[in-house]
Amino acid sequence: MKSLIIFASGRGSNAQAILDYFKENKDVVVSLIVSNKSNAGVLELAQSAGIPHAVIPKAEWNTEASLQLIAAHQPSIIILAGFLLKVPESLLAAFPGRIINIHPALLPKHGGKGMWGHHVHEAVLAAGDSETGITIHRIDEVYDRGEILLQARCPVLAGDNADSLAARVLRLEHFYFPRVIDFLLKSS
Ligand code: GAR
Repeated sequence: MKSLIIFASGRGSNAQAILDYFKENKDVVVSLIVSNKSNAGVLELAQSAGIPHAVIPKAEWNTEASLQLIAAHQPSIIILAGFLLKVPESLLAAFPGRIINIHPALLPKHGGKGMWGHHVHEAVLAAGDSETGITIHRIDEVYDRGEILLQARCPVLAGDNADSLAARVLRLEHFYFPRVIDFLLKSS
């Protein structure tokens, strides 16, 4: 049995897509969902799916207790699905190469601190880019920099705003993110 842990700060539509994808798979379990926000939608989703979940406030991520909580689930992969805090080096060191993130743009463009959610789509529009997309990558100690595992593209259309762009990008996220995770699990 392979264990996945999801970190998320928001509503959790990517977490939902991952749960749906692995629902019938007897070899893979989402064993824990962790948020830094006690009011994150992803926690309701975890509750209704019967998945163990926890809140770790920002100040407590870099503690032995948090590391122990996460390590106890022996994750094959830790998935950042709309997780907005920087992952502490203690976690990076404990799970080298096994923490992956999804970013709603084509890195290295439109990445870095403060670039999340609608800020990213607004930056794409402000830059006048003709295409955008998603990047799934391993994380390292620098925001949005680690090894790229997959990028997928979609057009920026005349008349797009941040919401219409977010919706188009999110469709790519929901399709590709679970499949990249599945591929990593099968090749590990
Ligand atoms: C997703 O679009 C994800 O790519 C983005 O947050 C959204 C979370 O949506 N992540 C970042 O911007 C990270 N820099 P969700 O809560 O519905 O999965």
